[in-house]
Amino acid sequence: MAPSHIRRYQDQDWKAVRDIFSQGLLGNMSSEFWPFMKNTRSSLILLGVPILLVLGSGSLLLSLLSFFVISTGQWLTFRKSAFQYVDRALQTDLLDIQKSYLSTRDSNLWVAESEHQLVGIVAARPAERPKRGGKYLELLRLSVKREHRGQGLARTLVQTVLQFARDHGYDGVILETSDSNHAAQRLYESLGFHKSHESWRYLTWWTNVLTNWHYQCDFSSQS
Ligand SMILES: CC(C)(COP(=O)(O)OP(=O)(O)OC[C@H]1O[C@@H](n2cnc3c(N)ncnc32)[C@H](O)[C@@H]1OP(=O)(O)O)[C@@H](O)C(=O)NCCC(=O)NCCS
Repeated sequence: MAPSHIRRYQDQDWKAVRDIFSQGLLGNMSSEFWPFMKNTRSSLILLGVPILLVLGSGSLLLSLLSFFVISTGQWLTFRKSAFQYVDRALQTDLLDIQKSYLSTRDSNLWVAESEHQLVGIVAARPAERPKRGGKYLELLRLSVKREHRGQGLARTLVQTVLQFARDHGYDGVILETSDSNHAAQRLYESLGFHKSHESWRYLTWWTNVLTNWHYQCDFSSQS
């Protein structure tokens, strides 16, 4: 395992940062799709319609065809929402990274570098909706290149954000991750984050809603 180090973003990192973010999110799509499909509404429609068709028409072919059409439709909807999420990030904070993360002392974007190549990223900025009774930093855009995963890089990147938040007088760190991203959930929980609440985003009637978990790490409970 080649040694890596964490440093602050520099202008020449722009393309690599955007690539690591997009590839991380889009590369995860297929592994996140099946947990997403376990949601009640998606599986009811995916299994219920073919069963009703075979019972009603007696045609196994029609039933199989409906299964194929529905699962393809659900996959395309899921895929489209992932692309839209990535696009939005690339057109907003990751478009002008200097302005978004390096123009104030309370924001930052770090990169992990190994053998002169960027292999991971994470960003932090003050939480948009301050929590009652606390000053929280938001962690976002965490991603590690596939070939460099499982080496503790994400753990070091998150620890960098936690230390930054402590040094800047924050009460803790908050973040959001999808219900189906089990790797990220295990990572955050192992670093002292706990689930605070969930939120939903409606996609279409033939899929389920996308569920996001909101996590927070309170420094007061760790001292
Ligand atoms: C999630 C992600 C950032 C983890 O990066 P990583 O560098 O491989 O993670 P680390 O090696 O630092 O692992 C730290 C901990 O995370 C958890 N973890 C990481 N990968 C895991 C996996 N595939 N399955 C289960 N747990 C996992 C484990 O608890 C691990 O600790 P352990 O090794 O002691 O068991 C990486 O998979 C990634 O970039 N995914 C795509 C983008 C993404 O999902 N970002 C998070 C958005 S909220």
